[in-house]
Amino acid sequence: MSMVNELTREKWVLGAFPEWGTWLNEEIDEEVVAPGTFAMWWIGCTGLWIKSENNTNIAVDLWFGNGKRSKKTKEMAPFHQMRNMTGGRMTQPNLRAAPIVYDPFAVTQVDAVLSTHYHNDHIDPFFAAAVMQNCGQDVPFIGPMKSVEKWLGYGVPKDRCRVVRPGDVIQVKDCEIVVLDSFDRTCLVTADEDIRNTCPNDMDEKAVNYLIKTPAGNVYHSGDSHYSTYYAKHGKDYNIDVALGSYGENPAGNQDKMTSVDILRMAEALRCKVVIPFHYDVWTNFKADPAEIMMLYNYKKDVLQYQFTPFIWDVGGKYIWPLDKDKKQFHYRRGFEDCFTDEPNVPFRSIL
Ligand SMILES: [Fe+2]
Repeated sequence: MSMVNELTREKWVLGAFPEWGTWLNEEIDEEVVAPGTFAMWWIGCTGLWIKSENNTNIAVDLWFGNGKRSKKTKEMAPFHQMRNMTGGRMTQPNLRAAPIVYDPFAVTQVDAVLSTHYHNDHIDPFFAAAVMQNCGQDVPFIGPMKSVEKWLGYGVPKDRCRVVRPGDVIQVKDCEIVVLDSFDRTCLVTADEDIRNTCPNDMDEKAVNYLIKTPAGNVYHSGDSHYSTYYAKHGKDYNIDVALGSYGENPAGNQDKMTSVDILRMAEALRCKVVIPFHYDVWTNFKADPAEIMMLYNYKKDVLQYQFTPFIWDVGGKYIWPLDKDKKQFHYRRGFEDCFTDEPNVPFRSIL
């Protein structure tokens, strides 16, 4: 049999996806976090992996799905949050724009699985299954009530789930997770009924923000929160080193992601030292250029005396606090550190 007769779609899918194979899994597993630091990796969307100096691994909002893959469904389902929010009916063209950089089924060790809210791009059945199959029997699944309902629906046992609300504090080995208010108004209008002229008040059951305190510094994960003046309260109440905010270019009719202006206002209000935009990577119809944040930062930083620095990341990238705190932009490792270990195998040196 020739190759063209043996190759199948299934072989292609298994050979090509996830795009990074287990490269990033191995990198996270191998990382030895130095005392006085913590490491984190951007898994895509708002997925964040945090690893402390005592080898505490916390996974927030990991998600390994995708968006539209066919044009056949012409309209959004009734009561879809984007239909609720915009009053539009047409299927939104939200195709996944970033690669999947982590293999959920190759997870070896995690100490807590966190979800900020229950929207499909912030909680994942495959990762839940892999954690149940590969990791310790005591790894907690931590999230607001609606996220826990999803995990229970996947078959995660109830005693492994922990419903949290703003104000709760959970210790995970050497890290403390402080549960804070979410400001995700898109989540607030996610409802399976007509809520026109009603005022939903179940935000705390739907979505939360997290402050993750490691021995070396604190990370503020704002999920899909919109801009809120209450960031200033969180900034007064807590010492925040790195804050992550959901950034995106909202199509007309939408108020879903923070803009470049909002990201800078959030950072100023939170009094963080570094602000990192995320989520703008993943949806084709909300794609945004993070350089806009840097441009606006440079325009405003002197007159407003900004005390923070934006950091522009890439999916799959690593960030070490505080070693990387003055960096402005990520670049993937470029390799070839050992060039000229051997004499190059070229005809003569002048070709080089
Ligand atoms: Fe989202």
